[in-house]
Amino acid sequence: MIWNLGSINADNFYRLPHLPGPGETIAATELRQGLGGKGANMSVAAARAAARVMHIGAVGQDGAWALQRLLEYGVETAHITVIDTATGHANIHVDAAGENNIVLFPGANHMVTDQMIGAALAEASPGDFLLMQNETLGQPFAAETAKLLGMRVAYAAAPFSAESVTRLLDRIDLLVLNAVEAGQLEKETGTELRDLPVADVIVTLGGDGCRWISTATHEERRFPAFSTQVVDTTGAGDTFTGYLIAGLDRGMKMAEAIELAQKAGALMVARQGTADVIPDLKDIQDHDFGA
Ligand code: RIB
Ligand code: NA
Repeated sequence: MIWNLGSINADNFYRLPHLPGPGETIAATELRQGLGGKGANMSVAAARAAARVMHIGAVGQDGAWALQRLLEYGVETAHITVIDTATGHANIHVDAAGENNIVLFPGANHMVTDQMIGAALAEASPGDFLLMQNETLGQPFAAETAKLLGMRVAYAAAPFSAESVTRLLDRIDLLVLNAVEAGQLEKETGTELRDLPVADVIVTLGGDGCRWISTATHEERRFPAFSTQVVDTTGAGDTFTGYLIAGLDRGMKMAEAIELAQKAGALMVARQGTADVIPDLKDIQDHDFGA
């Protein structure tokens, strides 16, 4: 089972001819709203990948619709607290090439407490996964608690800060980050990825696939990407990670889980939106990824 300590956001998508520069006003050609947040996206992805997922997080009084949707998508919501504040939200700008930038208001996501996390993880079992990102509070406590319980801890270091990773390094088993972030982390810690005290590191390379570094064996493997049409890259990384952890939770070997996750990520790049449009196993099965 996966326990995902993660954000829940209302996503507002603005489709734009290009991303705005300083002082610029641009008219969007399209506005859409949906469920998002790196946490919610990963929970939905893992549930779509047939894993059992308990989301740990918080929404505001205005967030009932988000809970409802998570439930519809197969995510368990018993440990999402409703707080007297605003639900997190994100304004997502997507340009003609499918690139994006995001402005985030954390809202309830930044009111998650160690008590909430402790109450949830009290129900977890050894061998379960704790998954986390960097859009809530409480990661150090969660990782500490999970380690004491004998859980496996995975951290998707997004949005990235080297500090958020270094404070967790001795408590995580699996780290997911992109190439730029990996470089920053190596610089910050003065340590090469393969020497980090983390069992497995996955470096995502966008359209170039990903690298898997096993620090135990000092082995490194490169996985090419599956190519798809780029419509909107938003949520593709989250989908990759959710699927990856779901695969591992269901007993897949790393290479097999990575391949499945890459297929899910590739399909996601071709879809506009985040949690609401994450592909399921059947979508992946039905798609022709070539050889
Ligand atoms: O990674 C994409 C997500 O980042 C969006 O769903 C948005 O809510 C922000 O958290
Ligand atoms: Na997308």
